[in-house]
Amino acid sequence: MNTKIAIIGGTGVYDPNILTDIAEEKVDTPFGQAKVKIGSYLTKRVAFMARHGEEHSVPPHLVNYRANIYALKMLGVKNIFATAAVGSLNPEMKPKDFVFMDQFLDFTKTRAQTFVEDGVIHLDMTDPYCPRIRKVLREAAEKLGLAHHNYGTYVCAEGPRFETPAEIKMYKQLGGDLVGMTSVPEVVLAREAGICYATIAMVTNFAAGISPTKLSHQEVVDIMDENAQNLRNLAMEAIANLNEDEACPCIPREDPAALK
Ligand code: HPA
Repeated sequence: MNTKIAIIGGTGVYDPNILTDIAEEKVDTPFGQAKVKIGSYLTKRVAFMARHGEEHSVPPHLVNYRANIYALKMLGVKNIFATAAVGSLNPEMKPKDFVFMDQFLDFTKTRAQTFVEDGVIHLDMTDPYCPRIRKVLREAAEKLGLAHHNYGTYVCAEGPRFETPAEIKMYKQLGGDLVGMTSVPEVVLAREAGICYATIAMVTNFAAGISPTKLSHQEVVDIMDENAQNLRNLAMEAIANLNEDEACPCIPREDPAALK
């Protein structure tokens, strides 16, 4: 059976413990090797990838986003649920809330943003996060009674340091609701590969200068851990309800020059 759904686990999500019959695969791509675990949930095959490695050893700016997405494409994946721990710039979006964001602002500096190195493609980014998967997530969160927001603008910072309060003030003035370090270029590469992609963002803290205390990675991990069962329930409900074969406007009408 084909594997059409993948979960990319971010900070605090290193273990595909909702899956059974798990086998590990190393996938060689033109951009390097990616490690994937493939298992079953109900009748569906699901691939799991730990974005930062199982020991959280790969920082956001050094993640091999191209190898990861290319490997999922090679496996036949058509739908990606990505998890992301995020800081909040928006007083309505509180720690432990889920956000199914719809837009991003890209402040990364050093990352390869495309698979295409010998041609030019200009991808449409009107809806970077798949509206069909976001709807499935919204309905799952409603059913489970989880605090959630259906829209949000994610600012992708380069990291790995946290932001200065001045940067957060600027991001807020530009319309940002959330800040994190990984969604770009992951979401862009998924679109280039013709894979629908949505993020389950979980607020772990108010951002620098809004939070009354200094930020630490431990605080982020602790909040992720406290909310882990809610995240698992949300992922299970959404995977159960996702029509993994549904045609989607996300898939570029013309094949991108990139991945055939
Ligand atoms: N900034 C950037 N990335 C993050 C944060 C933050 O405040 N919280 C969780 N990931």
